[in-house]
Amino acid sequence: MSIDYKAEIDRLKKELDVTVVAHYYQRDEVFEMADITGDSLELARRCQADTNPWVVFCGVGFMGQSVKVIAPEKRVLMPKIACCAMARMMDGSYFDESVQYMVDRGIAKENILPITYINSDASVKAKVGKMGGLVCTSSNAFKIIEKGLESGKKILFVPDRCLGQNFAIQMGLKSCVIGVEEEGKECDPKEADIICFNGFCSVHQLFTVDDVEFYRNKYPGIKIAVHPECDPSVVLAADFSGSTSQLIKYVNDLDPEQKVAIGTEYNLVNRMRKGNTYVLSSTKPECPTMNETTLEDLYNTLKSIEDNKPINEIVVDPDTIKYANVALERMLAIK
Ligand code: 13P
Ligand code: SF4
Repeated sequence: MSIDYKAEIDRLKKELDVTVVAHYYQRDEVFEMADITGDSLELARRCQADTNPWVVFCGVGFMGQSVKVIAPEKRVLMPKIACCAMARMMDGSYFDESVQYMVDRGIAKENILPITYINSDASVKAKVGKMGGLVCTSSNAFKIIEKGLESGKKILFVPDRCLGQNFAIQMGLKSCVIGVEEEGKECDPKEADIICFNGFCSVHQLFTVDDVEFYRNKYPGIKIAVHPECDPSVVLAADFSGSTSQLIKYVNDLDPEQKVAIGTEYNLVNRMRKGNTYVLSSTKPECPTMNETTLEDLYNTLKSIEDNKPINEIVVDPDTIKYANVALERMLAIK
């Protein structure tokens, strides 16, 4: 007999003290079953305020980890523990090497303020917390960097070079990327305000300036809106850049007749799609890891709570929780 997953998920949600959470990039059928949806900043804030002891998080690994870090008393399960490709690019040793790169080029460790994008492993957040640094998301990066600059220190931005560079451009600051030469010169931390690690999102790299030109030629007057994980050349060519929630608001506030091409993950763009909304790519820009979670996985995870045999539980060691929490709380304290 086949299982009616939606009906079973509804039943389990009623019977268990559980909150189902989903990021905007989840498949539609999974997204529709969630109690809390949002971008990564909203999810972190709302999970912190939620009172249920169980959280079932449909998203990528660092998101479930972040809930465990800010609310260690909660039991956090993930239907799929899929790792964001960008978060996987950096670990503790790459972080230490990046700090050392700056120290070797004349910046004392106490004059470095690390900021990590929330798309990073808890171990990286813990290293950042230990050094007095903080976390940011794509919604609040401007404010967080502004706050960081008040310290008068050099900012080490990890792991996304695009986010670091895009906000540096927006704020009129100088940036460089470790390991990337510009005009024959290596990244010199003495000359830059923001020193970026060379990580990136493989999905948002799919959008190009050619795509922007294609749409501008095809539909004169079209607006181009992109996520700041896109390459700086694409963000500069766009009309608007913003986090997932900011993109949704931008598109909703447009005149319904206004055409807009959006450069971010496919599931979200498809959900926003009205007659005048286009995907800024000739390919389907799906995040493979976000797409791994299915209704069946969500059902199995909820059922495992009912059966008292929880699966895919997020475990973070207490020392990592302690310092990663410091870095996350510093961000959450900034309104
Ligand atoms: P948001 O902070 O906009 O939710 O982005 C998360 C993400 O993974 C984007 O690729
Ligand atoms: Fe990570 Fe990119 Fe997927 Fe976002 S879209 S979760 S940054 S791989």
